[in-house]
Amino acid sequence: MKVTAARFLGAAARPGEAPESAAPEVAIAGRSNVGKSSLINTVLGRRGLARTSATPGRTRQLNFFLVNERFGLVDLPGYGFAVGPETERQAWGPLVEGYLLGRSTLRGVLLVVDVRRGLEHEERQLLDFLGHGGQPVAIVATKIDKIGRTAARDAVRALAAEAGVPIVGFSARTGEGREAVWRVFCRWWDRAP
Ligand code: GTP
Ligand code: MG
Repeated sequence: MKVTAARFLGAAARPGEAPESAAPEVAIAGRSNVGKSSLINTVLGRRGLARTSATPGRTRQLNFFLVNERFGLVDLPGYGFAVGPETERQAWGPLVEGYLLGRSTLRGVLLVVDVRRGLEHEERQLLDFLGHGGQPVAIVATKIDKIGRTAARDAVRALAAEAGVPIVGFSARTGEGREAVWRVFCRWWDRAP
């Protein structure tokens, strides 16, 4: 499938604010500043569609995008960023967990991790949480351009052994892994609810 159209559908800063949509949806989760928004832009080939920033914790709401007027992508707010109003940090759990548990159009969750950090406490917690929800999960190990080829391959293998879900090595800078991520999206979008 070719991306012929991609547009911002709406945002949710509080539970229940998600825009109504019948499109099957894939959510992108991960630590703050890991590269979730960059991944969306790279995979869709739309620079600047999802807002990116060198400042961690920039995306504080769920941002909904519609691809080819038929398929949804959701940029989730990042976790693990210690600065910012306490109320905002406390709001993350109910906002994201409520979405992950309650969105009937959700078909899969892509967890983005920094290839140099792998799975840390928060990632394991999220994987645990998702395992109970019954959604398919895959992991993208991003920023592979920051380490050598062999190191990246070893890290991806180690992650696969540890997590027991599909792993894709990726770089928003070079575009490596773009097709593999796209295949995951298409598989989930086509999945029956
Ligand atoms: P929040 O919205 O704050 O949770 O961050 P995010 O996960 O959406 O990260 P974002 O896409 O905004 O990227 C954060 C920073 O990492 C930016 O400076 C990006 O340019 C950079 N970045 C993202 N992906 C890559 C990558 O694959 N390689 C390199 N070298 N830098 C990347
Ligand atoms: Mg972001």
